[in-house]
Amino acid sequence: MLRGKTILLGVTGGIAVYKAVELLRLLTKAGAAVHVVMTRGATEFVTPLTFQTLSGQPVHLELFNLISEQQIGHISLAERADLCIVAPATANFVGKLAGGIADDLLTTTIMATRAPVLIAPAMNVNMYQNPIYRENEARLKRHGYLFAAPACGMLACGYEGEGKLQTPEAIFEEALAALTPKTLAGERILVTAGPTREEIDPVRYISNHSSGKMGYAIARAAWLAGAEVTLVTGPTAIAPPYGVGVVRVESALEMREAVLGRLEETDVVIKAAAVADYRPKLRARMKVKKTAAQLSIELEKNPDILAEIGARKEGRVLVGFAAETEELVRNATLKLEGKNLDLIVANDVSQEGAGFNVDTNIVKLLFRDGRVEELPLMGKHELAGIILERVEALRRGK
Ligand code: PMT
Repeated sequence: MLRGKTILLGVTGGIAVYKAVELLRLLTKAGAAVHVVMTRGATEFVTPLTFQTLSGQPVHLELFNLISEQQIGHISLAERADLCIVAPATANFVGKLAGGIADDLLTTTIMATRAPVLIAPAMNVNMYQNPIYRENEARLKRHGYLFAAPACGMLACGYEGEGKLQTPEAIFEEALAALTPKTLAGERILVTAGPTREEIDPVRYISNHSSGKMGYAIARAAWLAGAEVTLVTGPTAIAPPYGVGVVRVESALEMREAVLGRLEETDVVIKAAAVADYRPKLRARMKVKKTAAQLSIELEKNPDILAEIGARKEGRVLVGFAAETEELVRNATLKLEGKNLDLIVANDVSQEGAGFNVDTNIVKLLFRDGRVEELPLMGKHELAGIILERVEALRRGK
């Protein structure tokens, strides 16, 4: 994901420095070359050796180190970076940067870089709310500096409130977002994911094998590309992507309500969810006992949510999925036309590596104008990016 990227990770002094170690691990695991610059304060909490070992690169500490100035001085560090991250960033660091003070290697490098800079502050709640800090942050934002807003919670100083360093995973996502072109800025995208559960009685339900992976990957990629994303999700075991609004539902009827209720403020609908076509006509109030030798459950049809949206489409772009086990193109085309879609992502779920509960998919993209694009086996995250590129083109009327 970050293969070929050079990241400068600035670490300033605070108890949250240990989280920067985990962030470094995530960045290197994703393929980035990471150069760490530590302030003197940071070295009081974690030794440079830890960062050096995990980054596989020398850690930079002093502004005027003759050897490193010759080989990889602060200007060179600033120029080589595709992205600079400062995590944790103290109030002192933010204040110095906002005031244009460059008196150590980190502030000098950050002032000299032309790469995007992502700052993840961590401090006491009262410091975070101090109007001087707030002015400094606002000033830096005005100049294009990015911030990973701190989380709320128990702080190391014993106080509770805002000021806790974001999780390494969240800062990682913000870093990816900083490097992703904002091709979907201004778009409001609603994605559905996962299965629905149709209750038989208080302990049993009818469902399917959807894990949510496909829909979650689309929601994540849309957020990274700058869209405002709502994810309406059936029950899944995976964590929702960072940055997206999450609405949890159980049944097809609940999904219908959640989706239709948000349609007015939606530009693009992408329905990756595997919605149950039928639900038990009656839901038993008590657990059904196993007395009878045979049991029949009468089912009734669920509403087709996507077809309903298609009937009141207006200017929206509608993308459906088709999970098929035979006659992929023919069946998917019928759904594309019948539900008034712009694009349908057809997957033959009987193929190995495709469809339910795997990290990959094999799909054909069928467009309204008759175009068919056949894609090879690929990861669901990569596929999500391709689907969104096509969505962007459809939004632009290309
Ligand atoms: O979640 P994963 O494990 O990652 O698996 C991914 C997936 C296999 C679920 C996904 O790739 C996929 O194919 N999703 C659509 C599954 C499905 O329900 O297909 P369908 O052919 O039955 O439905 C066609 C379209 O109509 C879908 O966009 C579906 O969301 C929508 N639909 C279906 C029935 C219904 N009552 N309302 C709907 O809106």
